[in-house]
Amino acid sequence: MNTIAQSVLKSFSEIFSSQPYFFYSPGRINLIGEHVDYNDGFVMPAAIDKGVYYAVAKNQTDNIHFYASDFDEHFSVNINAVKSDDGWRNYVLSVVNEFLKLGKNIGGFDCVFGGDIPRGSGMSSSAAVEGGLAFAINEMYNIGLSRVDLALLCQRAEHGFPNVKCGIMDQFANMNGKKDHVILLDCKSLDYQYFPLLLKGYKIVLLNSKVHHSLASGEYNIRRQRCEEGLGIIKKHMPVQSFRDIKNIEALAIAKNEMSPKVYDCCRFVVEEIARTQKAAQLLQQNDIPAFGKLMFETHEGLSKLYEVSCEELDFLVEQAHNFPAVIGSRLMGGGFGGCTINIVAEDGIDSFIEDASREYQQQFNIVPEAYIVETADGTNTLAITP
Ligand code: GLA
Repeated sequence: MNTIAQSVLKSFSEIFSSQPYFFYSPGRINLIGEHVDYNDGFVMPAAIDKGVYYAVAKNQTDNIHFYASDFDEHFSVNINAVKSDDGWRNYVLSVVNEFLKLGKNIGGFDCVFGGDIPRGSGMSSSAAVEGGLAFAINEMYNIGLSRVDLALLCQRAEHGFPNVKCGIMDQFANMNGKKDHVILLDCKSLDYQYFPLLLKGYKIVLLNSKVHHSLASGEYNIRRQRCEEGLGIIKKHMPVQSFRDIKNIEALAIAKNEMSPKVYDCCRFVVEEIARTQKAAQLLQQNDIPAFGKLMFETHEGLSKLYEVSCEELDFLVEQAHNFPAVIGSRLMGGGFGGCTINIVAEDGIDSFIEDASREYQQQFNIVPEAYIVETADGTNTLAITP
């Protein structure tokens, strides 16, 4: 058992006297398909070996006690008084609230959680926090929700108290991840396939820009609104249900005059990104990783210029990566406005890439970035407690 898992269990035994259940809830990467999950697109995420550990036990009262070990903060609430708060509390309370909204009979419990997903890194620590608790409640109270239902519950939870109108990708990957695989998820039907991730000779390296712009969640919701507005205009001109029914950007011309430039650019990005992700899935099946990598660069360009969710620091990291022969694909990952870039890097070039990119980045921004070589992992699960 790793040290974080041990320290979560240790904190639990120091604060509470009962024997807890124990769970692991992973963060996620996304290879391609960004900002299209809430636009009925396709995405290609995987759960990873960075996540959140949860030790939880029922306490036979009406009170819920949380200890967030990463923040060294306690919080207690009566189950009948669950309401919006702030910070990490909103994520856990909103999950509890969603179970209550379903009319599920849950009682008080004691809970310690903590993990190793850097906050604001774009690896979705929020979905890991939500997913771990939802899974725990579902198990402890024998509620019987499926993994897909749990993912949907967690998505509703994020829309709730935290007020981030996210798509389904993060919560879905958190629940349904499979080691050595990526998920090709159809965000409209929630049909999904696992693809073996055979990156022979390559690894996935995340570079954390260590910047996180505070407007991120507000800007995220604004992107979503732009797309909804654009789709509304498009629908007046053609019989489409969603962006995936628009075959190419030429087809958008008919509605362009009625859209503001920003709305048009967002629609254009979404149409292109949906097509790109479908193409990328074929390339992955053919194991054509270099061609796949090219599409990642294209995605970044679109996210930066059209969707406007990048920032100076991320653009710099991707540009550096582009000039580095060992890197075959690079782009910002997740919601944007900071966090990580995801890079596919030839194994023998990883060390020098990390070293050079970090040095250049530090010279430019006076920030030391962090690098993580990530592996895929299974979705949220129960862990055995070993001594
Ligand atoms: C965040 C959201 C996801 C998704 C990505 C962008 O991670 O939680 O639903 O929209 O941004 O692809």
